[in-house]
Amino acid sequence: MTLPSTSSSDAVHTPQLQSRLPQVGTTIFTVMSALAAETGAVNLGQGFPDFDCDPQLIDAVNDAMRAGHNQYPPMAGVPVLRETIARKLETLYGHSYNAGSEITVTAGATQAILTAILAVVHPGDEVIVLEPCYDSYVPNIELAGGVVVRVPLKPGTFRPDFNKIAGAITPRTRAIIVNSPHNPSGTVWKRDDMLHLQALLAPTDVLLISDEVYEHMVYDGQPHESAACYPGLAARAFIVSSFGKTYHVTGWKVGYVAAPAPMMAEFRKVHQFNVFTVNTPMQHGLAAHMANPAPYLELPAFYAAKRDLFRQGLASTRFKMLPSEGTYFQCLDYSELAVPERNLSETDFCQWLTREVGVAAIPLSAFYGNGFDQHVVRFCFAKKDSTLQLALERLARL
Ligand SMILES: Cc1ncc(COP(=O)(O)O)c(C=O)c1O
Repeated sequence: MTLPSTSSSDAVHTPQLQSRLPQVGTTIFTVMSALAAETGAVNLGQGFPDFDCDPQLIDAVNDAMRAGHNQYPPMAGVPVLRETIARKLETLYGHSYNAGSEITVTAGATQAILTAILAVVHPGDEVIVLEPCYDSYVPNIELAGGVVVRVPLKPGTFRPDFNKIAGAITPRTRAIIVNSPHNPSGTVWKRDDMLHLQALLAPTDVLLISDEVYEHMVYDGQPHESAACYPGLAARAFIVSSFGKTYHVTGWKVGYVAAPAPMMAEFRKVHQFNVFTVNTPMQHGLAAHMANPAPYLELPAFYAAKRDLFRQGLASTRFKMLPSEGTYFQCLDYSELAVPERNLSETDFCQWLTREVGVAAIPLSAFYGNGFDQHVVRFCFAKKDSTLQLALERLARL
């Protein structure tokens, strides 16, 4: 039998794909970072520090590599790191997690959230997200075959609207994703909010995915209200954090999840065949570094000073500053700027600001499924003071 020639054009072709995520394109973060690079703008768009981490952390990772910690670690993470995380959670939030069965080290919070969703969401299950929300949640739910239920935070204040959340809960609701401190708005959930959520979920079987990646960036003496502080929430929560945010190493992509053992058992079934394990020497380095709590306990003062520098520089502009209670983001309302800028959509305003003023920001509309436009844009102040000064010089004329 003669085999057909593979040189004919129909024999060599890439089969047509039906996208699992037809709505997903290039993210606004990539678009704005590329535009900032092309135009030489100061990039206050994408959320990452432009300064380096503590050299001692790099030494600790180097030491771990030289000490031979270069092969697969245990699937759930290096035990010493899990124990250090458990100690921190107990000290700060008063909840005792078992390092063996209730904590898993992940490839950043992004993998943690996807894995949690894949572990618990069955096709047709509903998952509530509070908009504006971080851009990975919705595609993650869709990949699991879940149904996204969007509930807006209160317009203007970005506080939770518990009547709307209660109205969105149905017998099919599998989980709700909460993010405090909140990206993009910089709001922080208060004790009353957490008690309200706890009471609302108590009679249900709804799980909580608590995205707490900015847990150490809460300002003005407020506490971080972790779901771990509330027994009724902790009993149903995947609590997610990110070393990338806490230690200025977003490119390392290491984070963790804490959850009750039965939830963690399901999480690990997916984790095991998703990444299996996470970078060994970095886990050892992070464990050594984290033994000293000072770096994360000092983070609020460090970032509050940057926030204040940025806000003081903006005081004489016509931007309306929204409160920034936490995270490293400052949102600005541009609806009182001059015409025509103030009439631009958020996306067009960000393009204009990058090209004409030389500062890149992110439109809040990017965090809504329907592109809701409220003339508010997000700036990241996790930058060297000199970078912030340069941005402020450029923004001063507005
Ligand atoms: C709210 C929120 N969740 C999760 C992440 C992802 O964190 P990681 O870089 O650890 O994957 C980010 C990063 O910007 C974020 O802002």
